[in-house]
Amino acid sequence: MKQAQHTHVPIAARLIERTDLSEDTTLFRIAPEERALAELSSFVPGQFVQLSVPGAGEIPISPADLPAPDGTLELCVRRVGHVTELLHKQRPGAKLGIRGPFGSGFPLREMAGRPVLLLAGGLGIAPLRSLLMHLLRQRNRYGEITLMYGAKQPRLMLFREELTALAAEGGMRLYLTVDFAPETAEGNHSCAIGLLPDLLKGFRFDAATTYAAVCGPPPLYRCLVADLERAGVAAERILLSLERRMRCGVGRCCHCGLGQKLCCVDGPVFRAGELKGIPEAL
Ligand SMILES: Cc1cc2nc3c(=O)[nH]c(=O)nc-3n(C[C@H](O)[C@H](O)[C@H](O)COP(=O)(O)OP(=O)(O)OC[C@H]3O[C@@H](n4cnc5c(N)ncnc54)[C@H](O)[C@@H]3O)c2cc1C
Ligand code: FES
Repeated sequence: MKQAQHTHVPIAARLIERTDLSEDTTLFRIAPEERALAELSSFVPGQFVQLSVPGAGEIPISPADLPAPDGTLELCVRRVGHVTELLHKQRPGAKLGIRGPFGSGFPLREMAGRPVLLLAGGLGIAPLRSLLMHLLRQRNRYGEITLMYGAKQPRLMLFREELTALAAEGGMRLYLTVDFAPETAEGNHSCAIGLLPDLLKGFRFDAATTYAAVCGPPPLYRCLVADLERAGVAAERILLSLERRMRCGVGRCCHCGLGQKLCCVDGPVFRAGELKGIPEAL
Protein backbone atom coordinates (compact mmCIF):
# COMPACT_ATOMS: atom_id res chain seq x y z
CA MET A 1 0.00 0.00 0.00
CA LYS A 2 1.16 3.52 -0.76
CA GLN A 3 2.67 5.68 1.97
CA ALA A 4 2.03 9.42 1.83
CA GLN A 5 4.75 12.02 1.55
CA HIS A 6 5.00 13.93 4.79
CA THR A 7 4.12 17.58 4.95
CA HIS A 8 3.11 19.70 7.92
CA VAL A 9 2.19 23.00 6.29
CA PRO A 10 -1.27 23.41 4.76
CA ILE A 11 -1.42 24.82 1.25
CA ALA A 12 -4.17 27.33 0.47
CA ALA A 13 -7.30 26.08 -1.29
CA ARG A 14 -10.46 27.88 -2.29
CA LEU A 15 -14.00 26.59 -1.95
CA ILE A 16 -15.50 26.84 -5.42
CA GLU A 17 -18.79 24.94 -5.21
CA ARG A 18 -21.00 23.28 -2.60
CA THR A 19 -23.89 20.89 -3.09
CA ASP A 20 -26.09 19.84 -0.19
CA LEU A 21 -26.63 16.06 -0.30
CA SER A 22 -28.78 15.76 2.84
CA GLU A 23 -29.76 17.90 5.82
CA ASP A 24 -26.28 17.58 7.39
CA THR A 25 -24.00 16.42 4.58
CA THR A 26 -22.54 18.56 1.79
CA LEU A 27 -20.24 17.92 -1.15
CA PHE A 28 -17.55 20.61 -1.25
CA ARG A 29 -15.48 21.15 -4.41
CA ILE A 30 -12.22 22.86 -3.56
CA ALA A 31 -9.44 24.22 -5.76
CA PRO A 32 -6.01 23.84 -4.10
CA GLU A 33 -3.20 26.20 -5.10
CA GLU A 34 -1.12 24.94 -8.00
CA ARG A 35 1.86 23.94 -5.82
CA ALA A 36 -0.35 21.33 -4.07
CA LEU A 37 -1.42 19.64 -7.29
CA ALA A 38 1.58 17.40 -7.96
CA GLU A 39 1.33 15.77 -4.53
CA LEU A 40 -2.48 15.52 -4.67
CA SER A 41 -2.29 13.89 -8.10
CA SER A 42 -0.68 10.88 -6.36
CA PHE A 43 -3.91 10.34 -4.38
CA VAL A 44 -4.99 6.70 -4.14
CA PRO A 45 -8.65 5.97 -3.18
CA GLY A 46 -8.79 5.32 0.57
CA GLN A 47 -6.14 7.89 1.50
CA PHE A 48 -7.13 11.07 3.33
CA VAL A 49 -6.26 14.76 3.35
CA GLN A 50 -6.10 17.16 6.30
CA LEU A 51 -8.52 19.99 5.53
CA SER A 52 -8.13 23.20 7.50
CA VAL A 53 -10.86 25.73 8.12
CA PRO A 54 -9.32 29.05 9.25
CA GLY A 55 -10.40 29.95 12.76
CA ALA A 56 -11.64 26.44 13.53
CA GLY A 57 -8.94 23.79 12.99
CA GLU A 58 -8.04 20.81 10.86
CA ILE A 59 -9.92 17.58 10.10
CA PRO A 60 -9.09 14.37 8.23
CA ILE A 61 -11.34 13.73 5.23
CA SER A 62 -11.14 10.99 2.59
CA PRO A 63 -11.76 12.62 -0.80
CA ALA A 64 -14.94 11.38 -2.48
CA ASP A 65 -13.25 11.13 -5.89
CA LEU A 66 -9.83 11.37 -7.46
CA PRO A 67 -8.72 14.94 -8.27
CA ALA A 68 -10.46 16.22 -11.42
CA PRO A 69 -8.29 17.04 -14.48
CA ASP A 70 -8.40 20.74 -13.43
CA GLY A 71 -6.97 19.77 -9.99
CA THR A 72 -10.18 20.37 -8.01
CA LEU A 73 -11.12 17.90 -5.31
CA GLU A 74 -14.51 16.75 -3.98
CA LEU A 75 -14.91 16.31 -0.22
CA CYS A 76 -18.18 14.99 1.18
CA VAL A 77 -18.46 16.22 4.77
CA ARG A 78 -21.05 15.64 7.49
CA ARG A 79 -21.65 18.41 10.03
CA VAL A 80 -20.91 16.82 13.42
CA GLY A 81 -18.92 19.31 15.52
CA HIS A 82 -16.73 22.38 15.76
CA VAL A 83 -14.72 22.32 12.51
CA THR A 84 -17.34 20.73 10.29
CA GLU A 85 -19.94 23.22 11.59
CA LEU A 86 -17.79 26.17 10.50
CA LEU A 87 -16.95 24.47 7.18
CA HIS A 88 -20.65 24.13 6.44
CA LYS A 89 -21.06 27.90 6.91
CA GLN A 90 -18.48 28.67 4.19
CA ARG A 91 -19.60 29.94 0.81
CA PRO A 92 -17.84 29.72 -2.59
CA GLY A 93 -14.72 31.87 -2.56
CA ALA A 94 -13.87 31.01 1.05
CA LYS A 95 -10.23 30.28 1.85
CA LEU A 96 -9.37 26.82 3.23
CA GLY A 97 -6.15 24.83 3.58
CA ILE A 98 -5.12 21.32 2.60
CA ARG A 99 -2.29 18.87 3.42
CA GLY A 100 -1.77 15.42 2.02
CA PRO A 101 -2.67 12.92 0.71
CA PHE A 102 -1.77 10.71 3.69
CA GLY A 103 -2.02 7.09 4.76
CA SER A 104 -2.59 3.89 2.86
CA GLY A 105 -5.07 3.57 0.04
CA PHE A 106 -6.73 0.46 -1.39
CA PRO A 107 -4.23 -1.99 -2.97
CA LEU A 108 -5.36 -1.32 -6.53
CA ARG A 109 -2.61 -3.26 -8.28
CA GLU A 110 -3.39 -6.37 -6.27
CA MET A 111 -7.13 -5.94 -6.89
CA ALA A 112 -6.69 -5.76 -10.68
CA GLY A 113 -8.49 -8.57 -12.50
CA ARG A 114 -10.51 -9.51 -9.40
CA PRO A 115 -14.18 -8.97 -8.55
CA VAL A 116 -14.69 -6.11 -6.07
CA LEU A 117 -17.54 -5.91 -3.58
CA LEU A 118 -18.00 -2.49 -1.98
CA LEU A 119 -19.99 -2.34 1.26
CA ALA A 120 -20.91 1.16 2.44
CA GLY A 121 -22.96 2.14 5.46
CA GLY A 122 -24.19 5.73 5.87
CA LEU A 123 -21.41 8.27 5.35
CA GLY A 124 -19.08 5.36 4.48
CA ILE A 125 -20.16 5.88 0.88
CA ALA A 126 -17.98 9.05 0.77
CA PRO A 127 -14.53 7.35 0.92
CA LEU A 128 -15.77 4.37 -1.12
CA ARG A 129 -17.07 6.65 -3.88
CA SER A 130 -13.49 7.49 -4.91
CA LEU A 131 -12.72 3.77 -5.17
CA LEU A 132 -15.93 3.14 -7.13
CA MET A 133 -15.19 5.98 -9.56
CA HIS A 134 -11.68 4.66 -10.11
CA LEU A 135 -12.95 1.10 -10.73
CA LEU A 136 -15.59 2.30 -13.20
CA ARG A 137 -13.17 4.56 -15.09
CA GLN A 138 -10.75 1.61 -15.41
CA ARG A 139 -13.61 -0.86 -15.88
CA ASN A 140 -11.64 -3.31 -18.07
CA ARG A 141 -8.94 -3.79 -15.43
CA TYR A 142 -11.28 -5.31 -12.80
CA GLY A 143 -13.72 -8.18 -12.48
CA GLU A 144 -17.36 -7.80 -11.51
CA ILE A 145 -18.06 -4.67 -9.45
CA THR A 146 -20.86 -4.69 -6.86
CA LEU A 147 -21.89 -1.88 -4.53
CA MET A 148 -24.10 -2.57 -1.52
CA TYR A 149 -25.09 0.63 0.24
CA GLY A 150 -27.26 1.02 3.32
CA ALA A 151 -28.62 4.22 4.86
CA LYS A 152 -30.95 4.85 7.78
CA GLN A 153 -33.77 6.11 5.57
CA PRO A 154 -34.26 7.21 1.95
CA ARG A 155 -33.70 10.94 2.53
CA LEU A 156 -30.29 10.18 4.09
CA MET A 157 -29.09 8.12 1.14
CA LEU A 158 -26.23 10.05 -0.46
CA PHE A 159 -25.47 10.13 -4.22
CA ARG A 160 -28.55 7.98 -4.90
CA GLU A 161 -29.38 9.39 -8.34
CA GLU A 162 -25.75 9.29 -9.42
CA LEU A 163 -25.31 5.67 -8.27
CA THR A 164 -28.54 4.58 -9.95
CA ALA A 165 -27.45 6.23 -13.22
CA LEU A 166 -24.00 4.58 -13.03
CA ALA A 167 -25.59 1.17 -12.45
CA ALA A 168 -27.93 1.72 -15.40
CA GLU A 169 -24.85 2.10 -17.63
CA GLY A 170 -24.14 -1.57 -16.86
CA GLY A 171 -20.68 -1.32 -15.26
CA MET A 172 -21.74 -2.46 -11.80
CA ARG A 173 -24.41 -4.17 -9.76
CA LEU A 174 -26.07 -1.89 -7.22
CA TYR A 175 -28.04 -2.95 -4.12
CA LEU A 176 -29.55 -0.26 -1.91
CA THR A 177 -31.19 -0.74 1.45
CA VAL A 178 -32.64 1.48 4.17
CA ASP A 179 -33.17 0.57 7.84
CA PHE A 180 -36.70 1.85 7.59
CA ALA A 181 -38.79 3.88 5.17
CA PRO A 182 -41.59 6.11 6.45
CA GLU A 183 -44.75 5.48 4.42
CA THR A 184 -44.76 9.07 3.21
CA ALA A 185 -41.07 9.02 2.23
CA GLU A 186 -40.10 10.14 -1.20
CA GLY A 187 -38.63 7.66 -3.71
CA ASN A 188 -38.70 4.40 -1.73
CA HIS A 189 -38.84 2.28 -4.86
CA SER A 190 -35.83 0.15 -5.87
CA CYS A 191 -34.58 0.14 -2.29
CA ALA A 192 -34.76 -2.86 0.04
CA ILE A 193 -35.81 -2.43 3.68
CA GLY A 194 -33.34 -3.94 6.12
CA LEU A 195 -29.79 -3.67 7.41
CA LEU A 196 -26.75 -3.73 5.17
CA PRO A 197 -25.62 -7.24 6.29
CA ASP A 198 -29.05 -8.54 5.16
CA LEU A 199 -28.03 -7.77 1.56
CA LEU A 200 -25.12 -10.19 1.86
CA LYS A 201 -27.37 -13.06 2.92
CA GLY A 202 -27.95 -15.29 -0.08
CA PHE A 203 -25.76 -13.10 -2.31
CA ARG A 204 -23.97 -15.32 -4.82
CA PHE A 205 -20.42 -14.30 -5.65
CA ASP A 206 -16.95 -15.75 -6.16
CA ALA A 207 -15.73 -15.50 -2.55
CA ALA A 208 -12.41 -17.20 -3.40
CA THR A 209 -11.24 -14.27 -5.55
CA THR A 210 -13.34 -11.28 -4.43
CA TYR A 211 -11.87 -8.24 -2.67
CA ALA A 212 -14.33 -6.63 -0.24
CA ALA A 213 -13.96 -2.93 0.64
CA VAL A 214 -15.92 -1.86 3.72
CA CYS A 215 -16.59 1.60 5.17
CA GLY A 216 -19.30 2.61 7.60
CA PRO A 217 -20.17 3.18 11.24
CA PRO A 218 -18.06 1.15 13.74
CA PRO A 219 -20.73 -1.48 14.71
CA LEU A 220 -20.95 -2.54 11.08
CA TYR A 221 -17.39 -3.80 10.78
CA ARG A 222 -17.43 -6.81 13.12
CA CYS A 223 -20.67 -8.04 11.70
CA LEU A 224 -19.65 -7.67 8.04
CA VAL A 225 -16.17 -9.14 8.56
CA ALA A 226 -17.72 -12.22 10.21
CA ASP A 227 -20.29 -12.58 7.40
CA LEU A 228 -17.67 -12.15 4.66
CA GLU A 229 -15.31 -14.69 6.26
CA ARG A 230 -18.21 -17.13 6.68
CA ALA A 231 -18.97 -16.70 2.98
CA GLY A 232 -15.34 -17.63 2.19
CA VAL A 233 -13.59 -14.26 1.67
CA ALA A 234 -10.06 -14.45 3.13
CA ALA A 235 -9.31 -11.89 5.87
CA GLU A 236 -6.42 -10.58 3.72
CA ARG A 237 -8.91 -9.62 1.01
CA ILE A 238 -11.30 -7.80 3.37
CA LEU A 239 -10.24 -4.14 3.31
CA LEU A 240 -11.57 -1.86 6.04
CA SER A 241 -11.38 1.92 6.00
CA LEU A 242 -11.17 2.93 9.68
CA GLU A 243 -11.57 6.28 11.43
CA ARG A 244 -9.73 7.52 14.52
CA ARG A 245 -9.36 10.98 16.02
CA MET A 246 -6.29 12.48 14.34
CA ARG A 247 -4.00 15.44 14.83
CA CYS A 248 -0.74 15.42 12.86
CA GLY A 249 -1.86 12.90 10.22
CA VAL A 250 1.74 11.85 9.63
CA GLY A 251 2.67 9.45 12.45
CA ARG A 252 4.19 11.95 14.89
CA CYS A 253 1.64 12.60 17.67
CA CYS A 254 0.37 9.04 18.38
CA HIS A 255 -3.18 10.40 18.65
CA CYS A 256 -4.61 7.75 16.35
CA GLY A 257 -3.19 4.60 17.97
CA LEU A 258 -4.65 1.18 17.20
CA GLY A 259 -2.64 -1.24 19.33
CA GLN A 260 0.90 -0.98 17.94
CA LYS A 261 -0.39 0.62 14.74
CA LEU A 262 -1.18 4.21 13.85
CA CYS A 263 -4.34 4.78 11.83
CA CYS A 264 -2.84 7.73 9.92
CA VAL A 265 0.22 5.95 8.51
CA ASP A 266 -0.55 2.20 8.77
CA GLY A 267 -4.15 2.88 7.65
CA PRO A 268 -6.76 4.19 7.31
CA VAL A 269 -7.24 1.19 4.99
CA PHE A 270 -6.42 -2.04 6.85
CA ARG A 271 -6.84 -5.70 5.98
CA ALA A 272 -9.13 -7.52 8.41
CA GLY A 273 -6.30 -10.05 8.87
CA GLU A 274 -3.85 -7.48 10.24
CA LEU A 275 -6.38 -6.30 12.85
CA LYS A 276 -7.05 -9.75 14.32
CA GLY A 277 -4.72 -9.21 17.32
CA ILE A 278 -6.09 -5.72 18.06
CA PRO A 279 -9.49 -6.17 19.77
CA GLU A 280 -10.11 -2.41 20.10
CA ALA A 281 -9.69 -1.90 16.35
CA LEU A 282 -13.23 -3.01 15.46
C1 LIG B 1 -9.24 8.88 7.69
C2 LIG B 1 -10.53 9.64 7.97
C3 LIG B 1 -11.35 9.96 6.93
C4 LIG B 1 -12.55 10.67 7.17
N1 LIG B 1 -13.34 10.98 6.10
C5 LIG B 1 -14.47 11.68 6.32
C6 LIG B 1 -15.30 12.05 5.21
O1 LIG B 1 -15.04 11.72 4.04
N2 LIG B 1 -16.40 12.78 5.50
C7 LIG B 1 -16.73 13.17 6.79
O2 LIG B 1 -17.75 13.86 6.97
N3 LIG B 1 -15.97 12.81 7.83
C8 LIG B 1 -14.85 12.09 7.63
N4 LIG B 1 -14.06 11.77 8.70
C9 LIG B 1 -14.49 12.18 10.05
C10 LIG B 1 -14.11 13.62 10.28
O3 LIG B 1 -12.71 13.77 10.32
C11 LIG B 1 -14.72 14.08 11.61
O4 LIG B 1 -16.13 14.09 11.51
C12 LIG B 1 -14.23 15.46 11.96
O5 LIG B 1 -12.87 15.40 12.34
C13 LIG B 1 -15.05 16.04 13.11
O6 LIG B 1 -14.50 17.30 13.44
P1 LIG B 1 -15.37 18.39 14.20
O7 LIG B 1 -14.42 19.40 14.74
O8 LIG B 1 -16.47 18.90 13.32
O9 LIG B 1 -16.06 17.55 15.35
P2 LIG B 1 -15.65 17.51 16.92
O10 LIG B 1 -16.20 18.75 17.54
O11 LIG B 1 -14.18 17.24 17.05
O12 LIG B 1 -16.43 16.24 17.35
C14 LIG B 1 -17.84 16.07 17.13
C15 LIG B 1 -18.23 14.64 17.41
O13 LIG B 1 -17.67 13.75 16.42
C16 LIG B 1 -16.84 12.77 17.04
N5 LIG B 1 -15.68 12.57 16.17
C17 LIG B 1 -14.87 13.53 15.70
N6 LIG B 1 -13.91 13.00 14.92
C18 LIG B 1 -14.12 11.67 14.91
C19 LIG B 1 -13.46 10.57 14.30
N7 LIG B 1 -12.37 10.70 13.52
N8 LIG B 1 -13.97 9.35 14.50
C20 LIG B 1 -15.05 9.18 15.27
N9 LIG B 1 -15.72 10.18 15.89
C21 LIG B 1 -15.25 11.40 15.70
C22 LIG B 1 -16.48 13.37 18.39
O14 LIG B 1 -16.18 12.38 19.34
C23 LIG B 1 -17.73 14.13 18.75
O15 LIG B 1 -18.71 13.29 19.28
C24 LIG B 1 -12.89 11.05 8.50
C25 LIG B 1 -12.05 10.71 9.55
C26 LIG B 1 -10.87 10.02 9.31
C27 LIG B 1 -9.98 9.67 10.45
S1 FES C 1 -2.60 11.55 13.83
FE1 FES C 1 -0.66 11.90 14.73
S2 FES C 1 0.20 9.92 14.76
FE2 FES C 1 -1.65 9.64 13.68
